[in-house]
Amino acid sequence: MVDFDSVFSANARNMKKSVIRELLKLTVQPEIISFAGGLPAPETFPVADLKVAADVVFDKHATKALQYGTTEGDNDLKAELIKFEERQGVSLKSENLLVVSASQQALDMVAKLFLDPGDYVIAGRPTYVGAIQAIQSYSAKILGIPFTPEQDGFDMDALERSYAKTLHGGGKVKYIYVIPDFQNPAGFCWSLAKRKALLDFSYKHDLIIVEDSPYREIRFMGEHIPSIYQIDQHGENRGTVINLKTFSKILSPGLRVGWIMASDTIISKLVIAKQAMDLCTSVFTQKWLAEYMKTGKLYDVIKNTCENYREKRNVMVACLEEFMPKRWEIKWTKPEGGLFLWISLPKFINTDELILKAVQKEKVAFVVGSAFYFDQPEHNAMRINFSYCSPDTIREGVKRLARVIEAELVAYEAGHRAQTAPEGV
Ligand SMILES: Cc1ncc(COP(=O)(O)O)c(C=O)c1O
Repeated sequence: MVDFDSVFSANARNMKKSVIRELLKLTVQPEIISFAGGLPAPETFPVADLKVAADVVFDKHATKALQYGTTEGDNDLKAELIKFEERQGVSLKSENLLVVSASQQALDMVAKLFLDPGDYVIAGRPTYVGAIQAIQSYSAKILGIPFTPEQDGFDMDALERSYAKTLHGGGKVKYIYVIPDFQNPAGFCWSLAKRKALLDFSYKHDLIIVEDSPYREIRFMGEHIPSIYQIDQHGENRGTVINLKTFSKILSPGLRVGWIMASDTIISKLVIAKQAMDLCTSVFTQKWLAEYMKTGKLYDVIKNTCENYREKRNVMVACLEEFMPKRWEIKWTKPEGGLFLWISLPKFINTDELILKAVQKEKVAFVVGSAFYFDQPEHNAMRINFSYCSPDTIREGVKRLARVIEAELVAYEAGHRAQTAPEGV
């Protein structure tokens, strides 16, 4: 009998299950209202138009679409992506663009490219769990930086202090990982000043920034802010920002296609890293996407998606205001884009325990806040998704969530009274 543990590599032994993916398995029963996943609204998928585009691929490019393709990506799709980015003020050459099998692959490729065991990556506390998984699977460490109370980016003093301390302790920081637009999990959006400050910090210390932007186009209120990639491009243009984009939240996550924008030196290395992973991203899907993009209809889909999510976000925020208990401080973010908001509860409520009660008693699910920390997790927070459920279901789900939290407050208050009651009473 092979003792698998003795043959797994050190990296494999380091790999941890995603709490979210495990939790999602629990929440597939139809009676559960799930705010847990990061699923886009299925009604935003342009099924009929995608079917037409797939037919065009079969009619016009069948043999090419069914063949292997280049690792760099299909030229028709790259041409469409260049136009798409140009409309947003990013000028892009083909050698600065790499098509990938969605952003999760990009996160793994970037980690593979830069990280040796023991290296550090700077990231926010909290941050996207899939990025934590990718970094940890290369036996690297994360230097966690808190956000400001205004939630407009990193606490820059904390960043300077932690960075200096890490260097002093002999640690090597390889890159900074950030999600400036409607971050997963909390929906924070970085201000222009904070984006510039981070770029200056990266210049000062010769660090690369990995800017993960799956939600960038999903802004449903407020003013557009340039990406860090754009700020570098229009400023010193040092080419040290790597920008990760994906079709997952603007069109469909099932297609599994994304793109990386970076300097040609970095793209050439990433191409080699990708070759060992999958040779190339599905050629059929790339051709399909190119045909679909040529129709120009993606812009309407993005517009409709933003309208859909604005309504749902507003319903969720209004329901939280209506139903959440008021006698303790319960706070939630009010994001201007993306798919999630983040609820902070009183410290005595542990959402790792609350989730089981929520699913079993009230049939409502969320993601525990602790999943988004790599060390010293906060246990009194949760991430809830507003993109997937209908407005009516959101209303019912928030009512259920409020009931679970109310029960927890009542139990705490009763316990507290019993403890503080004078003897004999
Ligand atoms: C911040 C962030 N990065 C990357 C991903 C992965 O997305 P993709 O579907 O493109 O692999 C997600 C998915 O939710 C995400 O939230």
